[in-house]
Amino acid sequence: MPIPKSEVVSDVWRDGIFANKVLFCTGGAGSICSAQVRAMVYLGANACILGRNVEKTESMARDIATARKGAKVLGLGAVDVRDAKAMEQAAERCVQELGSIDFVIAGAAGNFLAPMDQLSANAFKTVIDIDVIGSYNTVKATMPYLKRSAHQHQTNGGPTPTTGTGGRIIFVSATIHYTGAPLQTHVSAAKAGVDALAHAVCIEQGPWGVTSNVIAPGPIGGTEGMERLAKHSDVANSQKRIPAGRWGTVKEIADATVYLFSDAGNYVNGEILVVDGGAWHRSGTNNPGSDWEYPDFLLSGRGVTGVKGGKKSKL
Ligand code: COA
Repeated sequence: MPIPKSEVVSDVWRDGIFANKVLFCTGGAGSICSAQVRAMVYLGANACILGRNVEKTESMARDIATARKGAKVLGLGAVDVRDAKAMEQAAERCVQELGSIDFVIAGAAGNFLAPMDQLSANAFKTVIDIDVIGSYNTVKATMPYLKRSAHQHQTNGGPTPTTGTGGRIIFVSATIHYTGAPLQTHVSAAKAGVDALAHAVCIEQGPWGVTSNVIAPGPIGGTEGMERLAKHSDVANSQKRIPAGRWGTVKEIADATVYLFSDAGNYVNGEILVVDGGAWHRSGTNNPGSDWEYPDFLLSGRGVTGVKGGKKSKL
């Protein structure tokens, strides 16, 4: 469904700042990533979004393309970030059809709630594979194009380059591993790996003009993550615990994305931009009001219900 510009990006950004640029985004049909892509398209970019689900990915691409007259948004379904070859082919196809890859969002992620006694070795590995290996495959597949773009659109701290920016990657991570969170062993380990990967890319690819940063969203309302994973029985209490007093919006993640990809983010590299209203500073594991209050839930012996898979076993 077409979404008005005011819902995905602030009006502080100038129209056309990403004209003639191409964004490549894994997990691009998801609620956060699709907003990031839509914001970039509103501001002039074309885009290629990737996902495993063909129908979901293609229909989201068509929908995002409505953001701007003449926008081209390619939806490549049946592409799994765990498949290095498929990622390489997707990047080639993006460049063939759209002309370049100037910006990348490594957004594909796997998540479900499970305590360790419901988390098989394969379940743990699956999330590591999607998040860490998938992000690495994204880097490998797109880096030659990002380097080319960085070279063509060099910034030196002076006036805004007439051709704008390019050669930038953002990894979408999380904040749960800063303090630790029960039921999220697999995701905490995976996101720590994603953060480390982003920093490594900054160090090794920075000399070619590439920037590599992380956006770590906090609780963002209306997203699959919050609906499927948070299951707050007391939303008001959950929001009260956040210094900002509310959940964030996808627009606020999109604005952070535009900042890092735009001329405003030229000298930001190897950074983690936490966009969470201050939430993680008040986190920790004692979440009264949550259905999984710590440590009562773990000690109760109850399993996690209402989520797929994960038979309960003794550790
Ligand atoms: N609890 C515990 N284990 C679970 C689980 C759950 N809720 N869901 C899946 N698993 C386990 C499976 O049982 C399997 O392990 P096993 O072989 O030991 O039985 C393993 O994880 C792989 O599951 P499978 O369904 O084959 O993996 P998949 O690659 O098809 O799916 C997931 C990946 C599991 C991450 C799935 O949740 C997914 O596709 N998510 C994509 C969307 C998403 O999570 N986005 C993030 C939004 S915040």
